[in-house]
Amino acid sequence: MSAEAALPLTNDYDVDALRADFPILSETVRGKPLCFLDNGASAQKPQAVIDAVRYSYEHCYANVHRGAYDFSERTTAAYEAAREKTRAFLNASSEREIIFTGNATGAINLVAYSFGRGLMKAGDEVIISDMEHHSNIVPWQILRDELGIVLTIAPISDDGAFLIDEFEKLLSPKTKLVAITHVSNVLGTVTPAKRIVDAAHAVGAKVMFDGSQAVMHMAVDVQALDCDFYVFTGHKLYGPSGIGVLYGKEAVLDMMPPFMGGGDMIAQVTYAKTTWAELPAKFEAGTPPMVQAIGLGAAIDYVSSIGLDRIAAHERDLLSYAMQRLSAVKGLNFIGTAPDKTAVVSFTMDGAHPHDVATIIDQEGVAIRAGHHCAEPLMVRMGVGGTARASMGLYNTRAEIDTLGNALEKVNAIFG
Ligand code: ALA
Repeated sequence: MSAEAALPLTNDYDVDALRADFPILSETVRGKPLCFLDNGASAQKPQAVIDAVRYSYEHCYANVHRGAYDFSERTTAAYEAAREKTRAFLNASSEREIIFTGNATGAINLVAYSFGRGLMKAGDEVIISDMEHHSNIVPWQILRDELGIVLTIAPISDDGAFLIDEFEKLLSPKTKLVAITHVSNVLGTVTPAKRIVDAAHAVGAKVMFDGSQAVMHMAVDVQALDCDFYVFTGHKLYGPSGIGVLYGKEAVLDMMPPFMGGGDMIAQVTYAKTTWAELPAKFEAGTPPMVQAIGLGAAIDYVSSIGLDRIAAHERDLLSYAMQRLSAVKGLNFIGTAPDKTAVVSFTMDGAHPHDVATIIDQEGVAIRAGHHCAEPLMVRMGVGGTARASMGLYNTRAEIDTLGNALEKVNAIFG
């Protein structure tokens, strides 16, 4: 099918109006309009998020949960309202199940330290997949080396699909935790989350999804998935950096010991003994990322006002357009073509290193990421040293895909 023949999937999706919500998109780079296609690394912020952060610092700022004075209650109320928005966003059953962390890495490490060290023993098994970000590999390796757990890797196919049948064969009563990405940051592959949960629960294992690359592309319902943990980060969801989320089932979080000790996570402290606060405070030691959480709440309001289903439809159109347009670029090889994937396109180009590709197209104002994308074992699996990666978001356009395609043709003019 030609690019021109592709049917617009989202007639009522006014991408130009949405772009106007993001002040940074009118920036120029080297005299060219910014063509921002690195949303998988971090997404830009709508005015509503910028305003919420600014309003908080200007009108509503004090430490949370600590002040007896009325003014501090404003920040506590705004912080807890952000928790409620996050609960509703994931359809968690209780605000006690929403823990704010610094980022997704912090949330995964919380699970590794608390669930891993608190409830696992030598010989227990954690299964991850062959397409994990380092943040969902290294914490489990540390646990393996410290505790003697077994770390098993679920395979993927040559096109980057999660091999659910092979995964199911790995499960056994030894499996205590399955920790899998919901969407690959490199390939865009969407893993079959519900089937993973059902199969893992059948052997008594808990399941954690890394949703860092998922929540901005699709609606996520943790009760429908029935997963035990779900983590994501705010800055890829059009929110501020410095805020991550751990969802955990209340019964599981209740079994887990605290991760970090400090202020606000205690019920009572004496030199002889300390008791823990109730959820979620038990896992939020120290002054939390208050304003960042408030900004995340604004980001959740923003994407919810557009609708994740409409964003997903727009991005499906962008992905299909990108696959057609980039197929026409000589010497371009797609890395990751699983049937179920988000609008993330990784590729190599014959004769050009991915870093050279990114540097050359930067001259045209095009921002993409190049390298191993914090997923070195996946690079080995796909037989490449690195890739160039264009990752789309709710504000990207077909015209920007054309800009990318034209810029890549200039790479060919140099290296081809
Ligand atoms: N994890 C981010 C990425 O994939 C930084 O680019």
